[in-house]
Amino acid sequence: MYIQNSYQADENRYSCGMQYNRCGKSGVLLPKVSLGFWHNFGSVDPFERSRAITHYAFDHGITHFDLANNYGPEYGSAEETLGRLMDMDFRPYRDELFISTKAGYDMWPGPYGEWGSRKYLMASIDQSLKRMHLDYVDLFYSHRFDPDTPMEETLQALVDIVRAGKALYIGISRWPLEALKFAYTYLKERDVPLLIFQDKLNRLDREPIDNGTLDFCHQNGIGFISFSPLAQGLLTDRYLNGIPKDSRMAQEKFLKHDMLTPELLSQLKTWNTEAEAEGKTLAAKSLSWILEQQGVTSVIVGASSTQQLAKNITF
Ligand SMILES: NC(=O)c1ccc[n+]([C@@H]2O[C@H](COP(=O)([O-])OP(=O)(O)OC[C@H]3O[C@@H](n4cnc5c(N)ncnc54)[C@H](OP(=O)(O)O)[C@@H]3O)[C@@H](O)[C@H]2O)c1
Repeated sequence: MYIQNSYQADENRYSCGMQYNRCGKSGVLLPKVSLGFWHNFGSVDPFERSRAITHYAFDHGITHFDLANNYGPEYGSAEETLGRLMDMDFRPYRDELFISTKAGYDMWPGPYGEWGSRKYLMASIDQSLKRMHLDYVDLFYSHRFDPDTPMEETLQALVDIVRAGKALYIGISRWPLEALKFAYTYLKERDVPLLIFQDKLNRLDREPIDNGTLDFCHQNGIGFISFSPLAQGLLTDRYLNGIPKDSRMAQEKFLKHDMLTPELLSQLKTWNTEAEAEGKTLAAKSLSWILEQQGVTSVIVGASSTQQLAKNITF
């Protein structure tokens, strides 16, 4: 039976204003705004809402979707959502998409289900590809630094994943600067250059600037992509007048009430007033601030609605 593909991407998707930045000194261009699947794409989330967000993203030039093995909840279910979307909507557009996934955090029980061993990484990439209904990912990350596994073991597994054709490029997330330097050299010597470093960078958390990570990436031709660029929603108008029942903070899991101190709220209100005076939103100003930092390639935003995403690409 022939099932008609119901999604037709907007033909103006590459002429509606999305900017593409070169990722370090590589051949890859990434949209200045990328879409993250950490929240809102799990089995607990309404599929049609997740689907609408991805359509809106791609229709507006967002070609990069960022995933990880454990995004959900349940673990693995964000990748399964992507797999369904590939089958239903995005298969014809596979070569226009840049899809990343990661392994590093707890994924399955027992001693081989997390961190940085070859055993874990090799099993995880195979599981991810199966869930996403993909032959390869564009980018595979070590999701976190493992202090107990030799870096050579983790890095060689990443090299071998590329050599096996399961990923086109390698990235690293949340490694300390000295380990990042080691990884950069190790990978370069094996002709699998480090494409990108992923870390938290936003107006409230400037560590990669302060500790020299961003500068190291810039100086060495490694792209840099910021996660939680809106500080999980704090750097938007979401919490300026209380804590909405449907917000991430109301869930008290990853964003806790006590993070919203009176001092922070006052700072956010000041930034919001400044943004409004320029006719902009706090979210837009916050994303612009990151992208103005030398060496930043893209910001990975999250969104629980197309309306939020719309605001996050208008700047
Ligand atoms: N490498 C790592 O270790 C790591 C860690 C964390 C994240 N990441 C990546 O980064 C991505 C983004 O992280 P994040 O979700 O924390 O990003 P974020 O963009 O800082 O926060 C997204 C949340 O902020 C709220 N929001 C977004 N736009 C809004 C707007 N215009 N107005 C009002 N509220 C808005 C929504 O929360 P509500 O639910 O309240 O609506 C949304 O889910 C993840 O999906 C993942 O791909 C990677």
